[in-house]
Amino acid sequence: MAKITSIADLKKFQQEYRSLKEARSREKIIVSVSLATCGIASGGNMVMEAMKDEVARQGIDNVEFIRVGCMTYCHSEPTVEVSLPGREPLVFGKLDENGARQLVQKYLKKGELTGTVIPVNYTRVEL
Ligand code: FES
Repeated sequence: MAKITSIADLKKFQQEYRSLKEARSREKIIVSVSLATCGIASGGNMVMEAMKDEVARQGIDNVEFIRVGCMTYCHSEPTVEVSLPGREPLVFGKLDENGARQLVQKYLKKGELTGTVIPVNYTRVEL
């Protein structure tokens, strides 16, 4: 990436980033796994590995997993935010291995709700 040295460079980067992000969200399922201290302590890594394994078993090939920090849901960890193409993101919490696999089988594969949906309590900040 080129060094940003002016407001014009920053605006150009912003435009390119937004275009790339929009294109990606039209095609991919984005799974953001909360792996702050509370997420790790409550089994977030296990949830991510179970979901990755189930995605492979189900033959779903458009999923991108992203490790993220605190999403402010200590009370409901492990949590993941799932963005299906063309839909608002949803956060699922209190996941265990079985719940993680159900989430893939039902929501990622068929768009059917399952498990515990957590009300979103943050606002996204766009670059
Ligand atoms: S570290 Fe747990 S919600 Fe922020």
